[in-house]
Amino acid sequence: MEKRKPIKRHSALQPLSRQHHFGLLFSWKIRKGFSKNVEINRMQAYAKWFFKQEIEPHFYDEETYVFPILEEGNELVERALKEHRQLKRLFNDTENPGKTLHQLEEELDAHIRFEERILFNEIQKVATEEQLQKIEEVHSNLEKSPDYHDPFWE
Ligand SMILES: [Fe+2]
Ligand SMILES: [Fe+2]
Repeated sequence: MEKRKPIKRHSALQPLSRQHHFGLLFSWKIRKGFSKNVEINRMQAYAKWFFKQEIEPHFYDEETYVFPILEEGNELVERALKEHRQLKRLFNDTENPGKTLHQLEEELDAHIRFEERILFNEIQKVATEEQLQKIEEVHSNLEKSPDYHDPFWE
């Protein structure tokens, strides 16, 4: 019998990757909303809800437990932090909601792809077992978000 497989490293980041999946789904729903000419304020309300429910805690966990695994000033981490700031700004921008939602949909998508394809791979390479275990602990009790009451994308 084999003992432990090295795949275990990957499982620590799985809950965050699942949240990435929901983030990509968010962008898809906004695109769908635009294609169906859904009122901007309905989509804006959804974006506000999604930010509080998913994005804010997700960014917090990445910034607190995941990014610090790489050395301070690492340029991939710098890029991710800069994108977090920009995305937060977009989620909270109420001035030009139509334009902002388009931008948000595109930039969230790009940010998630960058993390999944580049940043998380880099982090997995250098993370110690303790660091990965810590991430796993923090996320073992993650609850699924409740369904949103106004599924305008359907
Ligand atoms: Fe992120
Ligand atoms: Fe992320």
